[in-house]
Amino acid sequence: MSQPLAPDWLHEPPDANELHPALWPANVARNGAGEVEVGGVSVSQIARQVGTPVYVVDGADLDARARFVKNALTAPFVDRGMAVTCYYATKALLSADIIKRVMAHGFGADVSTMGELRWALAAGMDPHHIEFLGNNKSLPEIRAAIEAGVATIVLDSIQEIARVNDAAKTFGVTQEVTIRVNTGVHASTHEYLATAREDQKFGIARSDLDSAGEHIASASHLRLIGLHSHIGSQIFVADGFVEAAKRLLVDYARLQATHPLRMLNLGGGFGIPYTPSDPAVDLEALATELATAVVDTSQELGIELPDIAFEPGRSVVGPSGVTLYEVGTTKQVVVPSDSGDATRLYVSVDGGMSDNLRAALYHADYTAVVASRVSSESPALVRVVGKHCESGDIVVDAAYLPGDVTPGDMVMVAATGAYCHSLASNYNVVGRPALVIAQGGEIHTSLRAETLEDIMGRDVGLGLSGTPGENT
Ligand SMILES: Cc1ncc(COP(=O)(O)O)c(C=O)c1O
Repeated sequence: MSQPLAPDWLHEPPDANELHPALWPANVARNGAGEVEVGGVSVSQIARQVGTPVYVVDGADLDARARFVKNALTAPFVDRGMAVTCYYATKALLSADIIKRVMAHGFGADVSTMGELRWALAAGMDPHHIEFLGNNKSLPEIRAAIEAGVATIVLDSIQEIARVNDAAKTFGVTQEVTIRVNTGVHASTHEYLATAREDQKFGIARSDLDSAGEHIASASHLRLIGLHSHIGSQIFVADGFVEAAKRLLVDYARLQATHPLRMLNLGGGFGIPYTPSDPAVDLEALATELATAVVDTSQELGIELPDIAFEPGRSVVGPSGVTLYEVGTTKQVVVPSDSGDATRLYVSVDGGMSDNLRAALYHADYTAVVASRVSSESPALVRVVGKHCESGDIVVDAAYLPGDVTPGDMVMVAATGAYCHSLASNYNVVGRPALVIAQGGEIHTSLRAETLEDIMGRDVGLGLSGTPGENT
């Protein structure tokens, strides 16, 4: 029987217990008892050890993915005579373990705040492998980045040129910088994920580039070494990247007359599947198309091939992470529709928009399963919702789970490695969940769960806290 409340892309699966291989990390599987294991650890054991909700990263999957992404983005350019630097976008997910793992696979770090900078440095990232970007860097952030000795600062406005120059002068260094260019490329993705349209806050417009170049040329302590573009996130096809690279190269060729340019940073933004209807990105083919375009355009413009940089985040960590929740209540809700009344089963879990904001922010879709057991019950259309005081507190807008899903079951959501923990909040005074890495039959806590003491300790009026902290 068709379900009028189901979105067009969602099809009722023959078996709601199935783990779609394209959506789950490589080491997620059901054991003989039907319970899901991540990295050889059962979900009930994870819940016993660290509680729920909890973010779980499949460690071996993350290693394989980091290796794959680095190689896919690098090889086609190296084969054509270009050097490539890959900066991991720390905004996707940040912990010492994550930094160490991506570092081991040859990534540097892209940071955009004091917090990300300090955290990456504290985790052992070499400052020479760090790039600092952001559309509104504070003076303390600029100074800290220069003092640490970061490889490049990505300039995002004309005003920032004098600020970075003054800070570099204070430290007596010449700071290498690139310019984030608003290429005007309309990436095919959600409006809030497209970052190079005309009407948004990032970058310097192409029409202002020559003026920016002149300001930098007259700045005593800056060296402009390249141009940068990040057209958006969750993009599946090469055309936007190719168009941005071509536009950047035209500007690069012109600015080379007055600046020692050598670097073209093509950003991040490579998409990942969240549901069975999302396409899989062929990253190797995409990078090959891009490398060919860079070679062809450079030849047409008569310039030497640039060095290339990328800043992937989601494609490195997103698919390796899952979130585990415990079901608290279920509710059958009758919804009137054009074709008569239909029923949607609301499944409330012990987290929500505080640990995954993406549904509320972008109407992002996700895939979920009941992880603690298998069921022979027919699939029911469910909406997995959280425990927060918002009707938009949705974790999975539409999914088919076994119709007997019940309080006490554990629900597992796929592809939550990126932009879930990093966008998490304390809404309704809920602590952010722990992040654990599961591998080889063991779990390792990378970030402990936030406690009520952590949160309430900030309230000076309660007399629980120490010195009020600095805010940069
Ligand atoms: C400037 C910049 N670079 C890189 C990234 C990483 O993008 P993704 O995680 O989609 O690869 C972002 C994400 O917002 C970004 O803003």
